[in-house]
Amino acid sequence: MKHLAVETFINRRQKLMDSLPNQALLLVPSATLVTRSRDTEHPFRQDSDFWYLTGFNEPDAFLVLMKGNPQGEQLLFSQPKDKLMETWTGVRLGQDAAVIQLGFDQAFTFAEIDDQLPKLLNQASEVWMPIEDEALYSRYLVWRQRARAMFKKQANLPSRVVDLSQQLSEMRLIKAPEEIELMKEAARISAEAHCRAMQVCRPGMYEYQLEAELEHEFKMQAASGPAYGSIVGSGENACVLHYVENKDVMQAGDLVLIDAGAEYQGYAGDITRTFPVSGVFSLQQKQLYNLVLKANQLAISLTRPGVSLDELHQATVHCLVTGLVELELLKGDVEQLIKTEAYKDFYMHGTSHWLGLDVHDVGLYWQEGKPRLLEPGMVFTIEPGLYISPDQQGIDPLWQGIGIRIEDDVLVTETACEVLTAAVPKTIEGIEGLMKGESYAATRV
Ligand code: GLY
Ligand code: MN
Ligand code: MN
Repeated sequence: MKHLAVETFINRRQKLMDSLPNQALLLVPSATLVTRSRDTEHPFRQDSDFWYLTGFNEPDAFLVLMKGNPQGEQLLFSQPKDKLMETWTGVRLGQDAAVIQLGFDQAFTFAEIDDQLPKLLNQASEVWMPIEDEALYSRYLVWRQRARAMFKKQANLPSRVVDLSQQLSEMRLIKAPEEIELMKEAARISAEAHCRAMQVCRPGMYEYQLEAELEHEFKMQAASGPAYGSIVGSGENACVLHYVENKDVMQAGDLVLIDAGAEYQGYAGDITRTFPVSGVFSLQQKQLYNLVLKANQLAISLTRPGVSLDELHQATVHCLVTGLVELELLKGDVEQLIKTEAYKDFYMHGTSHWLGLDVHDVGLYWQEGKPRLLEPGMVFTIEPGLYISPDQQGIDPLWQGIGIRIEDDVLVTETACEVLTAAVPKTIEGIEGLMKGESYAATRV
């Protein structure tokens, strides 16, 4: 299992503080457990910002950074050691070990936060926190009121609260080499799971059985599980973009669309492949599939520093619309069909999103009214699709109910890009070969 070194997290905290004024106070809460049903909780998933800065996976914790604080700049509040509670819910790191193992200057119990924060607030020049977190903002106001009551005429509270999210998003958007290693592992596991699904798929199986195959592979390879709800949609279910019921039996002659990715050390893989349930594409399926593949490969070929995601999307749309006109699924002039957005009946989503600790990762897409330009270290998806809904009017029934998406994860390099998900086939020959049982390695290029 790959892990990031403790120094990585310490350096991230330091780098964040370096970008802020002296005496800036930063507040980042952990995630909390969420009840699933009486006495049971959803599996715990740490808040991505908190994880990025601490590598600490417990709930009920709080990261506090105070630049220039003589008592220590990097502080952690976390659950106390408690023999009885630990018997029920697992070992807690505790405060002593947090200082040693996580590299904090000081660690306090979570209960101490209401005493410590008013004191820190009274020395702070400004406060940086995720300001859209209403619960945190309410607590901040309580700490302020407490500080005012505590310090009375000596009260000297910060006059400015600044949104930390944007500062952190910019850091998270550019992936460091050690993060790229983890993202490659998330992509590798995700790709193997997709190969497994292709290999075991048979008519008569249920969609949830393919979901189980995918998630088996994720867990067997040390991923924590799926990075988002796995989508396994056969036949017309593939036209429902976020179909997660995965309840139907898969029929010979239909395609099945799988959009699933593993989460590894917090980082998401995000792959979509579409393949024939019985292992062989029909003529219509082939025509539409090759069009989506062409758009996917075109966008990949255009990816390099200095290009924007908006340009990639426009090129993708142009490619898809041209193909739809050739197949007579759309009629008219390509430029006009793009202008009037007539193609949105068939392609209604974006081509890309940032990828990282969140599957739809943080980072601005537009800056100063212009699409942001790609830089080395950015990771994002390329995921064109075509969806011919069964309700679509005026379409030859041969096409109705076909949904296709092909999604890869790409890393921007100095000169172009690296496709992190190339290990799962996407050409018709590659997919049909793997499903026929051709040698695994030969078809995974
Ligand atoms: N799996 C979610 C997405 O592709 O955006
Ligand atoms: Mn995606
Ligand atoms: Mn996806």
